Amino acid sequence: MRYAHIVGWGCYLPEQVLTNDDLAGMVDTSNEWIYTRTGIRERRLANEKETTATLAFEAAARALAMSKINPTQVDLIIVATSTPEFVFPSTASLLQDYLGARKAGAFDLSAACTGFIYALSLAANSIATGAVDTAVIVGAETLSRITDWQDRGTCILFGDGAGAVVLKGSDIPGGVLATTLRSDGSGGNLLSLYNGRGNAVPHYGTSYLNGHKSTIHMNGRQVFRFATSVVPESIEEVVEKAGLTMDDVSLIVPHQANQRIIDHAAKKLKLPPEKFFINLDRFGNTSAASIPIALCDAAKEGKLHPDDNLVFVGFGGGLTWGSAVVKWNVTPPPISPMRRQWRRARYVAARARSRVRQLARRLLAWIAGSPTPDARLKDADKRPEE
Ligand code: COA
Repeated sequence: MRYAHIVGWGCYLPEQVLTNDDLAGMVDTSNEWIYTRTGIRERRLANEKETTATLAFEAAARALAMSKINPTQVDLIIVATSTPEFVFPSTASLLQDYLGARKAGAFDLSAACTGFIYALSLAANSIATGAVDTAVIVGAETLSRITDWQDRGTCILFGDGAGAVVLKGSDIPGGVLATTLRSDGSGGNLLSLYNGRGNAVPHYGTSYLNGHKSTIHMNGRQVFRFATSVVPESIEEVVEKAGLTMDDVSLIVPHQANQRIIDHAAKKLKLPPEKFFINLDRFGNTSAASIPIALCDAAKEGKLHPDDNLVFVGFGGGLTWGSAVVKWNVTPPPISPMRRQWRRARYVAARARSRVRQLARRLLAWIAGSPTPDARLKDADKRPEE
C-alpha cells in the first residue's frame, strides 16, 4: 500500500484588487450589504496577460519548488477549473508544457467549486494503487472572464487565483486518508455556465438558452440551501470513513464561498468557528482554487502542524460536493533564493524547448510538403460559403 502525501503547496493571486466599494460604483450594491451577506471584502482580478494556465503555472511552480521535486519527475497533472482557455488543449497540457514536465500525463477536471477535492481524490487513489508516484494537482480560475458584471447577485462573489499541491507516494502511513465525492445533477440549473453553443440540456428549456449569455447563472437562495445541507453531512461522512472522530480533526479548510455557509456548518457540527480556516474576506470565491489557496494561507499563518488531521470540504455547480481527510506530515525547509532562480531558469529553458519543437514540426512539414496549420486555414478561407 502506498500513501499519497502532500509534499509541497503554492498559490498565486493576481495583484489587482477589486473592493466592495469598487463594486458599489459598478452595480447597485454596498460594502455593508456584501460583507454582511457573504463575509467578502475584496477579491483579485487577473490582468490581460494572465490566463488560467499562467495562474496555474505560478502556483504549481511554487508547490514544486517547495517539494524539491523537478518537473521531469511528475507523472500526472490535473487542473481543476471551470475557466479553461480551450476545450482542448486542456489547461493541464498547457501547464505541462510551461513546466517542462516531459513525463507527465495531463488533463482538466470539471467539477466546479468541488474540482480540487475531485482532483485530490483521483490523484491520491492513483498513487495508492502504484499507477503513478508524483502528481501535481491545481485549482485555477479566471472567473472574472465569465462573470456578468451587471448582475449584482453574482458579480459580488467571485475572484481569480490559483492554488496547487504536489502529492507523492510513500510507504509511511498518512497523507490523504479518505475522500468522498458526490453529485446531484438534478440541481444543475441552480448554478451553471452555458457554453453558448446552442446545445444545452433540453429540460433546461428554451428560456434558459435565450436568457443566458456565457456568464455564471445562479439561484443564490437555492445554492445557499444546498450548501448548508451538504457541508456538515459530508464532513461527518469523510471523518468516519477515515476512522476518526470530530475530536481528532485539527482544522477544516472549506471551500471559501460564503462566511454564513461556514458558520452554519460550524453550528450544526457543534464546532468552534476557529476550527474552520477562512480567507474569503480577501479573495472571495475562487471556485476550484479556493481550497488550495486557503491551505497555503493556513500554512503561512502557522496553523498546520505535523500529524494534524485536516478536512477539506468543497461544494458547487453540478451540483457537486465532496470532502477529504489529510494527515499533514511535512514542514518543508525554506528554499534558498539561488535555488529559486535556478528553477526559474529551468522554466525559461522549458519554454524555449517548446518553441524549438514547434519550429521543428513546421520545418518537417515544409520538407515533407504537407500543409501547415496556417496553410489549411488559408485554404478554408478560400472555400465558397455554403
Ligand atoms: N446588493 C444589494 N442587493 C442585492 C444584491 C447586492 N449585491 N444582490 C441581490 N440583492 C437584492 C435582491 O435583488 C433582492 O432584492 P428584492 O428583495 O428587492 O427582490 C434582495 O437583495 C434579496 O435577494 P436574495 O438573492 O434573496 O439575497 P440573499 O439574501 O439570498 O443573498 C447571496 C444573495 C448570493 C449573497 C446568497 O444567496 C448566497 O450567498 N448564496 C450562495 C451563493 C454561493 O455561495 N454560490 C457559490 C457556491 S459554490
